[in-house]
Amino acid sequence: MLVSSKYLVDVAYKEHFAVGAFNVGNSEFVKNIIDVAEELRAPVILQVHPCEYDLMGSRIIKYVREMAMTSTVPVAVHLDHGRGINDVMRAIRDQMNSVMIDTSALPFKENIDGTKQVVDLAHRVGIAVEAELGSIGSRDADEKDNMGRIYTDPQLARRFVDETQVDDLAVAVGTVHGPYPSGDNDIKIDRLDELNVILRMPLVLHGGSNNPDDKIREAIAHGIAKVNISTDIKMPFYHAIKDTVIEHPNDYEPWIMTPRADEKQKKVVAEKIKLFGSAGKADSYFEDSERLKPLFTYDADTVDEIIYD
Ligand code: 13P
Repeated sequence: MLVSSKYLVDVAYKEHFAVGAFNVGNSEFVKNIIDVAEELRAPVILQVHPCEYDLMGSRIIKYVREMAMTSTVPVAVHLDHGRGINDVMRAIRDQMNSVMIDTSALPFKENIDGTKQVVDLAHRVGIAVEAELGSIGSRDADEKDNMGRIYTDPQLARRFVDETQVDDLAVAVGTVHGPYPSGDNDIKIDRLDELNVILRMPLVLHGGSNNPDDKIREAIAHGIAKVNISTDIKMPFYHAIKDTVIEHPNDYEPWIMTPRADEKQKKVVAEKIKLFGSAGKADSYFEDSERLKPLFTYDADTVDEIIYD
């Protein structure tokens, strides 16, 4: 069932678990994640980064949405790291029901302005908005430069949320996107705690892969209600494909080439869902039928009005 990501993370925040937000780069991933979520009765977020979006195209987004709508567990379809208003508009047109706008590389005031513009538009059609303050590092950044990490300042975060009215906030507390070449994967729980105390709203952990389980548990106990996972589900999938190709150099049928990759990926998705405490939580969402109604009301006229305003 397609459910607002706001409802998903609000409940998670209140009940001290986190919803797994898994990046999907092809149709196999979508099926694997939904299969595991249904088996474990977990709410889940299927998220698409602009690079994944460009790769798959709008028609596959419609498939992602269809898979969410027909699922027996609550699912949101989310744009990850929207680079600007054009990415957000494309997502709205394709009827995603949740977006992230990431203008965090801009100066503070411009980040507020860029985010506020998206919130004003997206909220008109009931779409929840995530934004980022500070900078989550990346494996591509210079190690000497702390891998691009700029920790989120709690006072600035308070101002940012008040002025933009975002629904949840991605905070930089030590994780980076992708692997940690130097093994420096220490989540700063003190900083996270300060942010949680001052914001009292669902916080998002990007760069969820390659972190110790106990740190993830601690982060969830301190306000993280959505954990983004990309690397940890992609690596085992593609490496299993490589192993299968090496073992079966003359085979080519999908039912020979992909099952092992699917199995490896599903195993990780299941481990993450259990780690985040979201296994078994799906059914509690169905108790509040009012909130289950999607906030997102796709109305072509309003969307056109927003797009062409
Ligand atoms: P990882 O690749 O480290 O799991 O990060 C995913 C992410 O944060 C997507 O926004």
